[in-house]
Amino acid sequence: MAENTQNPAAGNQPAKPKPAAPGAPKPAAPAAARPAAPAAAKPQAPKAEAAPSGVYKPPVDRAEANPYKDSKVGVVGSWLQERFSVVMPILDYVKKKEVPRHRLSFWYYFGGLGLFFFMIQIVTGLLLLQYYKPTGTEAFSSFVFIQKEVPFGWLIRQVHAWSANLMILMLFIHMFSTFFMKSYRKPRELMWVSGFILLALSLGFGFTGYLLPWNELAFFATQVGTEVPKVAPGGAFMVEILRGGADVSPETLTRMFSLHVVLLPGLVLLLLTAHLTLVQILGTSAPIGYKEAGLIKGYDKFFPTFLAKDGIGWMLGFALVIYLAVMFPWGIGVKADPLTPAPVGIKPEWYFWAQFQLLKDFKFEGGELVAIILFTLGGVAWLLVPFFDRQASRDQKSPIFTVFGLLVLAFLLVNTYRVYLEYGW
Ligand code: HEM
Repeated sequence: MAENTQNPAAGNQPAKPKPAAPGAPKPAAPAAARPAAPAAAKPQAPKAEAAPSGVYKPPVDRAEANPYKDSKVGVVGSWLQERFSVVMPILDYVKKKEVPRHRLSFWYYFGGLGLFFFMIQIVTGLLLLQYYKPTGTEAFSSFVFIQKEVPFGWLIRQVHAWSANLMILMLFIHMFSTFFMKSYRKPRELMWVSGFILLALSLGFGFTGYLLPWNELAFFATQVGTEVPKVAPGGAFMVEILRGGADVSPETLTRMFSLHVVLLPGLVLLLLTAHLTLVQILGTSAPIGYKEAGLIKGYDKFFPTFLAKDGIGWMLGFALVIYLAVMFPWGIGVKADPLTPAPVGIKPEWYFWAQFQLLKDFKFEGGELVAIILFTLGGVAWLLVPFFDRQASRDQKSPIFTVFGLLVLAFLLVNTYRVYLEYGW
């Protein structure tokens, strides 16, 4: 049994109860070990079952260890309850969660859809890993092998590529819908912050994954993408770390691969745990003023009603990803050759188009640095919105922030569309 290290005084100044007869129940806690006990208090009469204060007893050794042992569940349920009785109150709490029903409830499904596509990424990614070889000489041929030889390899690869795009799309929709519903307001600030980091990590997934096929397009797009930080102070060093040298090379492939399959998944799982735990603890918010105006039509129990509705969304999402994978397969391209000149029209993935266009618009002396500074400041302001928007935190409408959100959305959409007009899909 472990000693209690919380209370250094424990056991040092024992009160003096009368010596107990051998085999008698242990005496009650020494007075000095109990923080609130008055110094001169008389020793209590020994209580049956009480542990001497300062000695830790795991729940399983305490009397009434499992208050759930008589609850009416199946054999497996009661077996688990007996072992996990400590976490049962958490499950009871989670079971109470309710989701408000109103005319904007539709937007609540996009976080769950992001989660669904992330789960698809984990499963298909693990399958691809069985055949993919992350070296400069083998990456492209193993990629072609998966696409052409491995049974259903083409499907797994196509689903992985499409699901990545859908996941990021869902996250953008989720972010803007929670923004315009002001779901980030007190006490959900950390849901916004953890979500923001999750989106950044997801973009990192997209960026690092793009190089893995080791085809010409991926190679030169990474060359352009990793060049960007160079203009910022200390940027050249960062570029070298990212590339594993001065230029994009097989070293870069090793780095992108390890980020893609080890570091980023680990970080995402950590952040996702925090994000989803907060969803459960804080519950789902309703838009400002809806409760007072009587616009809430009722509440759905999260378990099982809302989860079942989420499940319908996931089935539709699954149908969509299979449809896209079969009908609009991504190409294979040609193997990357660093010695050939870059093909014309190199552009990044669509979710980086807005920044890409911004850099193109600032093509004057020192302009790229200005663009990077503007974009970074905008990103920090976006991250800190819950802490600036004091009105929303007081449950009052905050039109200035709505306008800010509309401007950010317009910037992303207009710039993305401009790249589409110039380069096509
Ligand atoms: C991998 C990425 C993410 C996953 C899997 C995810 C998942 C979820 C889920 C399942 C919910 C509860 C249902 C809902 O309201 O949609 C939720 C709520 C929320 N998420 Fe995310 N999310 C992610 C990224 C983000 C991002 C990028 C943001 C914003 C920057 C964000 C901000 C929020 C907020 C503020 C809520 C609370 C909504 C409310 O209480 O009404 N999340 N998220």
